[in-house]
Amino acid sequence: MILVTGATGNIGSALLKELHAHGVGPLRGLTRDAARAAFPDGVEAVEGDLAEPASLKPALDGVRSLFLLSRLGPDADILEAARQAGVRHVVLVSSITVRTHPHLGPAGENLAVEQALKASGMDWTVLRPTQFASNALMWAAAISGHETVHAPYADTALPTVHPADIASVARVALTEPGHRGRTYALTGPEPVTARQQVEAIAAALGRRIPFAEISRRQAHARMAAVFGADAADAVLDVTGGDVNDELLMVRDTVSQITGIPARPFRQWAAENVDAFR
Ligand SMILES: NC(=O)c1ccc[n+]([C@@H]2O[C@H](COP(=O)([O-])OP(=O)(O)OC[C@H]3O[C@@H](n4cnc5c(N)ncnc54)[C@H](OP(=O)(O)O)[C@@H]3O)[C@@H](O)[C@H]2O)c1
Repeated sequence: MILVTGATGNIGSALLKELHAHGVGPLRGLTRDAARAAFPDGVEAVEGDLAEPASLKPALDGVRSLFLLSRLGPDADILEAARQAGVRHVVLVSSITVRTHPHLGPAGENLAVEQALKASGMDWTVLRPTQFASNALMWAAAISGHETVHAPYADTALPTVHPADIASVARVALTEPGHRGRTYALTGPEPVTARQQVEAIAAALGRRIPFAEISRRQAHARMAAVFGADAADAVLDVTGGDVNDELLMVRDTVSQITGIPARPFRQWAAENVDAFR
């Protein structure tokens, strides 16, 4: 049995679809609300809250492989619950910032999860993706409302990764030999700026989207109101304010592991255009 956490989200939903399409099973998807889950036929939807590891007992029952998103709960306790349930292999989604920005709080938390997993006695595979193409969904309300998209660092190009590519790597790591004890940094196939991302969404929509660059200070004020000042600073650093060669680097890990080239941002935009209508 494979348990996929974040099963209704960007990576998890793609992973369940891909495992199912490859005939892998049995499969289970974790969600806090099974009534909302639309999983492929035969995939079991199980409720549980990562913030309450004790609630994961039914979801973990009989599970041997776990796909785990980090930082959605007390990760050390989640890993201990998995170990006690008999899980043998965990594929963990961490972040490339563990390597590129180890001084930032979220990166430190991810490093601690990675270390706890490695010390757990379970087999492990760590995925360290760069920023996701799906982060562009933060512009969905402005674009569908025909408003101007505002973004800082408009011309900083980062090798944004399609969540389905993270899912593809996870599928291989979960089901094929040779990926235990490995850490993979994952990026998209080319650098893309915020301005270019909005242009790709505009091309998919077939209309112009007004775009305006804003200052770090303006962006910080908007973000801090939603998720706090420190988190806003961390996001702004890794999306343009404090980039480094490691963060800018395009890696071929996705194609090496899956045998298929990583998907460009414009593909994500075309596949998700309805979110911006
Ligand atoms: N965005 C980035 O640029 C980036 C970069 C590096 C790493 N990451 C990591 O990637 C992960 C996010 O992946 P994603 O984009 O695929 O997710 P997502 O689309 O944002 O969806 C979040 C998922 O997590 C589930 N979830 C949230 N809180 C939960 C809880 N307390 N208990 C159980 N499930 C919970 C939600 O399920 P329900 O609502 O159905 O319960 C949903 O399926 C995070 O761990 C993040 O740190 C993100």
